[in-house]
Amino acid sequence: MEIETPLTTTQKLHDLEKRNESAFVGGGTDRISKHKQGGRLTARERLDVLLDPGSFVEIDRFVTHRCSNFGMADQRIPGDGVITGYGRVNGKIVYVYSQDFTVFGGSMSRTQANKIMKIMDLAIKNGSPVIGLNDSGGARIQEGVEALGGYADIFLRNVLTSGVVPQISAIMGPCAGGAVYSPSLTDFIFMVKNTSYMFVTGPDVIKAVTHEEVTKEELGGALTHAQKSGVAHFATEDDRDCLLMIRELLNFLPSNNLDDPPVLPTKDRPDRVEESLNTFIPDNPKKPYDMVQLITKVVDEGYFLEVHKHYAQNVVVGFARLNGRSVGIVANQPQILAGCLNIEASVKAARFVRFCDAFNIPLITFVDVPGFLPGTEQEWRGIITHGAKLLYAYAEATVPKITLITRKAYGGAYDVMSSKHLRGDINMAYPTAEIAVMGAEGAVNIIFRGAITGAKDQGAERSRLTKDYETKFANPYMAAEVGYVDEVIEPATTRKRLIDSLEMLKNKRDFNPPKKHGNIPL
Ligand code: HXC
Repeated sequence: MEIETPLTTTQKLHDLEKRNESAFVGGGTDRISKHKQGGRLTARERLDVLLDPGSFVEIDRFVTHRCSNFGMADQRIPGDGVITGYGRVNGKIVYVYSQDFTVFGGSMSRTQANKIMKIMDLAIKNGSPVIGLNDSGGARIQEGVEALGGYADIFLRNVLTSGVVPQISAIMGPCAGGAVYSPSLTDFIFMVKNTSYMFVTGPDVIKAVTHEEVTKEELGGALTHAQKSGVAHFATEDDRDCLLMIRELLNFLPSNNLDDPPVLPTKDRPDRVEESLNTFIPDNPKKPYDMVQLITKVVDEGYFLEVHKHYAQNVVVGFARLNGRSVGIVANQPQILAGCLNIEASVKAARFVRFCDAFNIPLITFVDVPGFLPGTEQEWRGIITHGAKLLYAYAEATVPKITLITRKAYGGAYDVMSSKHLRGDINMAYPTAEIAVMGAEGAVNIIFRGAITGAKDQGAERSRLTKDYETKFANPYMAAEVGYVDEVIEPATTRKRLIDSLEMLKNKRDFNPPKKHGNIPL
């Protein structure tokens, strides 16, 4: 038997270099060039864009799978289809995994799961965000239950990590089966237009089972999930845009639930007066205006990172800064469905409120809401339960809560939108605010039905009573008289008043009664 000569130090270094090179080519140059058609970056290139230059440290580069079914024993690729490790975004540590589609379609093996779990465990122990760049055909078919087990182990960690450190998912290729469930348990999902897809079962299975014909794009493309299903929070133009947007989002977030969100210096004066706001709300209460425009007039440098921009547009949610501090903004959008709350809007806003509350991000709520959207469609689909989600989320939130009623605050929607009664800390209103159980016409038709029917000139009587109701209720002063509104402000001073309130609430501490967990109406 021939005895191998031990390698010299130089040879050992050379050996390491060769092993690294083999890991860097993943599934091979042919698969890499196929992958890059259509503008997709490789798993490693993606990390280069996402992380601060030179900050990535890889963990488990040489780990391989242990499967021997279907000839797999001869196909071991270092890293096994996922690159894991840590790096920095704007100087702050993040943990990352990036699936490599060129290696068994990025599919989830037992080994791949172990690698991802290792960095998730590090993230939770050390209190930094986890970012997953997903590009995977789902459970590795050759591994059977081992792959399913791997997924479930990750799902468990997603749940245990939820609310401890931010979890962000990017979908950067065709993601199927288990590959979509882990992202759905995370806080934010980014998708890339035209090259990323999410579905539990793909077009072929759907055709076989329901005979429905649908393309990948229609079924689970970025716009489908950003507009129709609401599964995706951001639809981005290409890989690069997606990764840069993730960096942008991270700028607003703390590293963990015990940390404060970052404060960034701003040149925008905290007492900047915005004269245009004094005439911004139209005289006619039925005329819409763009709430996003109002928000951008108030926040630092007019920068507002809208989340879920294309979904349930009757409510607007997103991040901005006030005098350098991150805030979460929730606002009714009078331009869409008159700003009514419907099922989709309630769920969208509730999830956002809970995220902000979990991560110490103060909530600023701009209210212009005529009520919940009426109709059988909404009632039969359960607006009662879904609307209650937003009520629940605001009520349980203990972060600073500042509310500004710009115009309508009617009915249950007044209560829901961070009212004083749900522990709103500072509740302000513009002089244009209208706070009542319902709009004048509806109210008069109900409470004065008899008087109107009995009147000689019904039209004149209705109009007189409507005007009388408007005078009494179409203003903020009844609420201000009982202290449900703390202050009626001149709109031009909105920025200063919000910043004053935020500074005043800087050290706020509030708690909910001890319990295992509440039972949000899911
Ligand atoms: C092993 C896989 C794989 C998988 C893809 N590949 N998916 N290998 N397990 N799940 C491999 C292919 O064999 C191929 O290998 C390479 O990846 C690229 O795949 P293509 O099909 O050529 O790519 P493309 O045409 O772009 O199609 C991508 C795809 C398709 C849409 C993702 O591959 C596909 O439908 N895959 C299966 C999806 C699926 O049903 N997964 C299981 C879900 S069940 P070569 O060697 O040719 O390069 C699941 C259970 C968990 O995940 C549930 C938990 C709740």
